[in-house]
Formats: sequence, C-alpha cells, structure tokens
Amino acid sequence: MLDYKAEIPFFDTVIYDNQHRLQIDSAIQKVLNHGKFINGPEVREFSDTLSRYLDVKYIIPCANGTDALTISLLALGLQRGDEVIVPVFNYVAAAEAVEILGLTTVFVDASDESFNVEAEKIEEKITSKTKAIIVTHLFGLSAKIDQIVGLARKYKISVIEDIAQAVGAEFNHKKVGTYGEVGCISFFPTKNLACFGDGGAIITNNEVIAEKARMIANHGQTGKYEHKIIGFNSRLDTLQAAVLNVQILYLEENLSKRRFIAKQYRDGLKDITEICLPDEQEGSLHTFNQYCILLKNKEQRQNLYNELRNAGIGVMIYYPKALHMQEAFSRYQFKENEFPVAEDLCNRVLSIPIFPNLQEEQLQYIIAQIRKFFNR
Ligand SMILES: Cc1ncc(COP(=O)(O)O)c(C=O)c1O
Repeated sequence: MLDYKAEIPFFDTVIYDNQHRLQIDSAIQKVLNHGKFINGPEVREFSDTLSRYLDVKYIIPCANGTDALTISLLALGLQRGDEVIVPVFNYVAAAEAVEILGLTTVFVDASDESFNVEAEKIEEKITSKTKAIIVTHLFGLSAKIDQIVGLARKYKISVIEDIAQAVGAEFNHKKVGTYGEVGCISFFPTKNLACFGDGGAIITNNEVIAEKARMIANHGQTGKYEHKIIGFNSRLDTLQAAVLNVQILYLEENLSKRRFIAKQYRDGLKDITEICLPDEQEGSLHTFNQYCILLKNKEQRQNLYNELRNAGIGVMIYYPKALHMQEAFSRYQFKENEFPVAEDLCNRVLSIPIFPNLQEEQLQYIIAQIRKFFNR
C-alpha cells in the first residue's frame, strides 16, 4: 500500500465517467446548434433546477462568486461608509467586494477550530454603522447560522451567506444560503457544483432584492436599452449553464462520495492525537469542499507538508495568511495578534486531497503516509 507510484493531485477536475461526459457533450452541442450564447434557455433551466434543489424562490445567475457578493451588497442598498462584518479567516472575495464598493470592512475572528465565525464575536463588532454581516460557511461546514441570523434581526442588519464552498450543506435540515437575506454561490471548477470556467449565482427569497440584483447584474436594465441604475455586465454564459444542468444531476452523488472519503479519513486518522480532524457539528451536514486538518504548530505542518509532497500527494494550505495581514487591507493598519484564532489556524492548517474521483487505493495511500509521519 505504501508503494503507490502515481502522483495524487490535490484536486482532479477531469470527468472520467463516460455517461456523464456524453451528457455534457450533448448539452454543449445543443447550445452550439441554437447559438443563444447569452441568456439562452439553459440559463433559465438551470435557475429553475437550482431553485428547486435549494428550496429558494429566486436565483440570479451571474459571472462568478465574487460578483455575486458585490451585487448582493449593492442590492441590499449599502452605501459608502457603511460597515460590513466579514470573517478574517476566509478567502479574499467577501472583503474584496466590500472594499471595491467603498464600504468599510470590519473583520471578525474565527471562533474556534471549526474555522467559522459565531454570533458572540460578531456582536462585539456591531456599531451604529453596521449594515451587513457576511457569513462564509467555510470548507463546506455550516456556521451556526440560526444564532447569527437571530443577532442580525435584533440589530436590523442584513445577512449575506457565502456558500461558495457549501452548496448542498445544511443546518438543521435546511440548506445553507437560505437563512440570510441573500446567499452567494461560486461555480468555479473546484467547487462542489462546478462549471468549466467562472460562474456564480445570488439566491434569495426576497422579491425586491431579487429584482434589484437581476437589474444590477445586467447593466441596470429594466428592459432593453432602459437603464434605471448603474450595473455590471455579470451574466452566467449559456454554455456554462448547459454544463451546470448536467453537473447538478451528479451533485448529491458527489457530495456522498466526499462524505465517504471524509469518513475514511476520520476512521484512518482519529487515533493520531497530534492532529485535529474536521467533523460534522450538531445540526450540520458538511459538504467537505476541502478536508482541512490542524497540526500542532507551523513547524509540524511544514514537515508533514514536505513529507506528503515528497510522497507525490498534492496538499494545499487554506489559508496561509489571515486577511488582516494582507497588504490589500493595509489602510486599516491592523497589527499582528489582533485576530489570534485566525492567525493560529493559518499556521496549523493543512488541506489534503478530497474530490469525488479520489480512488480507494489513493485514499489508503494518503492515510498510510500520514500515519507513517506520526510513526503509527
Ligand atoms: C468562500 C469563497 N467565496 C467566494 C469565492 C469567489 O468565487 P469566484 O472565484 O467564483 O469569484 C470563493 C472562490 O474561491 C470562495 O472560496
């Protein structure tokens, strides 16, 4: 088992299943034949399917997940000077959307080793200028979103859920993304529901927000050449929607495969007390877009990283630097140790391969290599 020869990628986006490939080929051919490359019928079809899957009224497809966040902030009516609370241990997109609109980013630290933010720490950051909270369900694990939404209602603040990594994740048997005013999705190729390039969507049950977001995503138009407000060109290409119409058929199967792999990792590594493993939490259904383990410290993380790389295993660090330490946010003059949990996570986190095509022998090889590192 330990002599596995081929490289194991961190992620493999190639579709190997023949039937799946044929379905995608045929969906693409259909688009080539009708030629409606922008706002073709596949976009509507996909929106309808996604709306049923997530049990949400309105889907506004757009060009990518970052646009989904930016458009959401605009659709909620945020204006210069308004403050938005954003997780500091996170991908850059949410804070980037806040900054690009001239709003003020107020970072909040992760709460614990679940990687997510919680209501208690968020409440400490609320001021009279706070207008929205962006909650990222990081790596596919739902945050305790009921408490966060409860807090937001108390202070009359909007909640935007970033479900880029958590499409299909649930909290208390309800899909995440549908708790707050708005949910934002990315269909980037490594996401659980992925297209063959960039794509995104905004989801909401609020008709007014939906109409505004739809307008903003399409040049602020109310009708052809009727521009009511300034908007963007942010649309989901028909070709990407055609791909997504097939991908969504495989979503639940792929999520089950990810959960199965996560269970194998847990069973194979749980006796190694030096590692902290990710887990489902009470009420949550994880999508394991990433499988992030925590090591004792930075040095141990680097050693394991090197060992696994040398053994031909693709590993990544999500995220090596907390956002307050990024130059892009230097205007706030944050200091080291201002967000101790995030900084600690950045030093200790290591992501190991998890994707639906990961083969049993690859999985066992990865587990065996980690066990070898810890002399187990
Ligand atoms: C948590 C999170 N939010 C937002 C995004 C942005 O999505 P996109 O790359 O489609 O703009 C990503 C993408 O990596 C992400 O992981």
